[in-house]
Amino acid sequence: MRTQVGIIGAGPAGLLLSRLLALQGIDSVVLENRSRDYVEARIRAGILEQHTVDTLTAAGVGDRLQREGLEHSGIHLQYPGVRHTLDFPALCGRTVWVYGQTEVTKDLIKAQLDGGPPLLFEVSDVRLEDVDGDSPRIRFTDADGVPQVLECDAVAGTDGFHGVSRPVVQGAGGRVWERTYPYAWLGILADAAPATDELIYAWHPEGFALYSMRSPTVSRLYLQVDPSERIEDWSDERIWDALDTRMALEGWSVNRGPVTEKSILPMRSFVSAPMRRGRLFLAGDAAHIVPPTGAKGLNLAVADVTLLAQALVRLLQEKETDLVDSYSDRALARVWRCTHFSWWMTSMLHRSGDDFDAELQLSQLRRVCSSEAAARELAENYTGLPLEL
Ligand code: FAD
Ligand code: DHB
Repeated sequence: MRTQVGIIGAGPAGLLLSRLLALQGIDSVVLENRSRDYVEARIRAGILEQHTVDTLTAAGVGDRLQREGLEHSGIHLQYPGVRHTLDFPALCGRTVWVYGQTEVTKDLIKAQLDGGPPLLFEVSDVRLEDVDGDSPRIRFTDADGVPQVLECDAVAGTDGFHGVSRPVVQGAGGRVWERTYPYAWLGILADAAPATDELIYAWHPEGFALYSMRSPTVSRLYLQVDPSERIEDWSDERIWDALDTRMALEGWSVNRGPVTEKSILPMRSFVSAPMRRGRLFLAGDAAHIVPPTGAKGLNLAVADVTLLAQALVRLLQEKETDLVDSYSDRALARVWRCTHFSWWMTSMLHRSGDDFDAELQLSQLRRVCSSEAAARELAENYTGLPLEL
């Protein structure tokens, strides 16, 4: 088998990259080790920056997003006794959209299978060869158990945090930076109408809580918990009671409904550099992880592949190496900005440490809620900074 770009991993990064390349006349093959059902059912992020919406729309996969996505013009920041609204259009002229990552993935897979480049599910034993030369290869076993070789001009490692690509890049040297946080998120999906117009990010002495949504009838809520907590110990009743306590506001309450999914997610920051070795390029979670508080993970993956698609088109069509040579540095500039913002939001809103830490957090929250300059800094980062920083 031969293609121009071999893409490992059919998450949002790999699928979108394949589509952006196809629109420029570059062919690719996407290899995914899970089944289509598994990939489409994975519940993850929910907030899209304007840039992400624009990119998906320009790539021809924005129809359902335009119909079913919910445009949001701000967030509520809350601490005991106060719920303050940040108005994003007034602060920075941009908005964000609520549209689940599951839906983005379904739209991309449908477009791919509907006449797009090949997308092979349930492959196994994926191995990379000769990434330092001009003709890298991917060996894998297909869904029928037949060994295959994919000859490529370039390879994109979009295989997430646990993939095979990052170790190959790091094998030639490089560096990783990592921070593990002393808390995790317990997330639920519930068939309940959201009791709020905008997302609520709530600081509380007992821990952070977030009220989000997926549609006018489905709520997505998160609670800060200790990473050692077991989901079996959290009955639906216990979760709703904790949400009531942490989001309490006079005259307002959380809407309850049947819980359809619940899980505990660890939280970490992780950056791996460089994002390239020879003809192998990393993008998305394969190269970096942010804690979810700033809603940046999916948006960063989209920004990476937007830069990578431009660089690969230039390399393969114009035989110019300038954009692939600068890809890692340009992507990492944005990665570190989002890493800082995600760390900052996380540190401001999650309880840990002592009462001194709590007072610092409350002081920072009051500052964001009272200073237009401080609010604008949050709004610009949350709604998404320009692609090139
Ligand atoms: P992924 O979505 O991880 O896609 C990688 C793909 O590669 C997967 O389909 C995987 O099966 C495949 N793969 C892995 N190894 C191989 C292999 N060897 N061969 C072939 N295929 C392989 N972000 C937020 O902003 N908000 C959230 O609430 C949020 N929640 C999250 C919850 C969880 C449990 C996780 C893991 C992440 C969450 N994120 C969240 C982050 C966000 O979902 C990711 O940043 C985003 O999925 C990155 O997309 P990606 O395509 O780079 O990686
Ligand atoms: C959601 C996830 C986030 O990490 C966030 O900051 C806001 C919303 C969500 O899943 O809806």
